[in-house]
Amino acid sequence: MARILSISGSPQTPSRTDGVLAYVGRRLTGRGHEVEVLSLRDLPPGPLLSADLSDPTIAAAVARVVDADAVVIGSPVYKAAYSGLLKTFLDLLPQFALSGKVLLPVVTGGSPAHVLAVDYALRPVLASMNPAHVGAGWFVAASQVRLYPDGGVLLDPLAARPLDDVVDAFTTTIELLGDAHRGATAPGRPRTGPAEIVVSDVHLTDPAAAPLLADLVVEYGTRYGRDATAEFDRFPAADFAAPDGSFVLLRRNGETVAGGAIRRYDGQTAEVKRVWTAPRFRRQGLARRVLVELERRAADLGYRRLYLTTGPRQPEAAGLYLAAGYTPLYDRTADPETVGKHPFAKALEVPAAPVVLAERAS
Ligand SMILES: Cc1cc2nc3c(=O)[nH]c(=O)nc-3n(C[C@H](O)[C@H](O)[C@H](O)COP(=O)(O)O)c2cc1C
Repeated sequence: MARILSISGSPQTPSRTDGVLAYVGRRLTGRGHEVEVLSLRDLPPGPLLSADLSDPTIAAAVARVVDADAVVIGSPVYKAAYSGLLKTFLDLLPQFALSGKVLLPVVTGGSPAHVLAVDYALRPVLASMNPAHVGAGWFVAASQVRLYPDGGVLLDPLAARPLDDVVDAFTTTIELLGDAHRGATAPGRPRTGPAEIVVSDVHLTDPAAAPLLADLVVEYGTRYGRDATAEFDRFPAADFAAPDGSFVLLRRNGETVAGGAIRRYDGQTAEVKRVWTAPRFRRQGLARRVLVELERRAADLGYRRLYLTTGPRQPEAAGLYLAAGYTPLYDRTADPETVGKHPFAKALEVPAAPVVLAERAS
């Protein structure tokens, strides 16, 4: 586990940069790292502007940077570069304050003309402080970040997918470098082939299910701005086991890459829950495969229909269920937030009854 400091250089609140940093932070905690936040706008402005390192708050902030194993640096794009607030803080740091650390620069900006602000403005300054590695940074368009009053953040999938890859590469580099700070490079996105996937039925408490449950808490927490643990404790583990339920995992080389569950909704209906794909294995059809497995099990258990709900801030999930033939039971033209829970249903194909030939009396 690495100690990661997430620095926000946005002077404003609410801040889209903070929203992106919260998204990144949740992904990092989901990978088992410890993430602390340093919001530069909360530092005392006088000592900050006059580079007064004797000020205890400034000294403590600098010490937090020096003590971290890795640092995520976030800033809005201002005048084709990063914010003056961030520059004022970077100016205070000792020359080799970032020695041996893995860095991830992330910016949000209003104009695609300034996507290179990360590489042309921020990266050289960071590189001058002797880090072990400055990861591929990322520019997120302000229009791709939706902030909710309750603290939730929803990133447009067009921004979230590449950002997930960048964060995965960042964590892989942290893990590869470890304490020795070896100069490893991050590998690319792994691909899966259908033949490599092993499908198994497990109990909810099986350790192999832990990554699925942990990441779902992270995912919901990020999108809805609250701890989702209680939602996961709402149903006992027995609901997802025989005789009324099932829990399925897809594994690749022993790694849990996707999964999902069904439970009894009523005598005819199974409810689909906990459908998940590991972030770095998304967009490879694994969730669709999970649904197929769950539908087969529901039919075997005697159900005739599947029911599920997804949330208003999960447009990819709604897209998956539509594509898989589920009927939306809500007004798709209405504002998703007003709709609230998005219910779907699908009739299961009942296996043809076996033809029983009457025994002939001989
Ligand atoms: C003073 C100021 C200057 C800005 N300059 C730029 C700019 O040069 N290029 C750009 O792409 N966006 C620019 N923007 C837009 C911000 O980068 C964008 O809205 C960002 O997401 C704000 O982040 P925040 O909500 O974390 O403060 C500017 C915004 C402000 C307030």
